[in-house]
Amino acid sequence: MERLQKVIALSGYCSRRKAEELIVQGKVKVNGELITHMGHKVSFNDNIEIEGNPITNREDKVYFLLNKPRGVVTTSSDDKGRKTVVDLIKTDKRIYPVGRLDYDTTGLLILTNDGELTNYLTHPKNDIEKVYVAKVKGFVTKNDLKKLCNGVVIDGKRTSKAKAKILKIDKKNNSTIVELIIHEGRNHQVKKMFEAIGYMVLKLKRESISFLTLDGIKSGEYRELSIKEVKKLYGEKNE
Ligand code: URA
Repeated sequence: MERLQKVIALSGYCSRRKAEELIVQGKVKVNGELITHMGHKVSFNDNIEIEGNPITNREDKVYFLLNKPRGVVTTSSDDKGRKTVVDLIKTDKRIYPVGRLDYDTTGLLILTNDGELTNYLTHPKNDIEKVYVAKVKGFVTKNDLKKLCNGVVIDGKRTSKAKAKILKIDKKNNSTIVELIIHEGRNHQVKKMFEAIGYMVLKLKRESISFLTLDGIKSGEYRELSIKEVKKLYGEKNE
């Protein structure tokens, strides 16, 4: 038996958080009975309906790796009518992004209908490595990098250990290109980390998540992940 919101998320219908909202809003029935409280447990054989739509026939899982361009929102739908990352992918499955890249951030984003993988990749305890390259205004010193690596306080909480190195100092344009490797996924984390040491991020790109890179994928393009890659993301040996 599993919690109702977990089973809904695992079905790929929506995220666990969204499932909780739907339950509280009185939109979910289990075996014909309206369930509005959290913590209700179901088996995978129970008949679950959301707003009248049964989710017992679970969708096949799909996984996409997108090279997100600038000027696209990382949600499934945008109330201001802006283009979303989901609009960039041709699929009849109901997919959603794993984590978030800002409107002006580019780079690697995973989209899937697999709630379990989403939970795995976004849970801090799983220590998933993310590599960012930031163009920062001004000249970043080695001492500044040390502060980033040791952790800085953002939103009242210290960031965990990170790795950072200077890739290029652009004297003419008064900027520094820095590679930053982190294992968390807090809101606007990279920008806030630089802000905490007195710098403004001018451009930001996510180059990789775990072993996945943008190799061969141009901006705005995407590819499907193989099952081998998905298993490897979970840390399983894939031979
Ligand atoms: N950190 C940020 O500040 N923005 C992003 O889009 C991703 C990480």
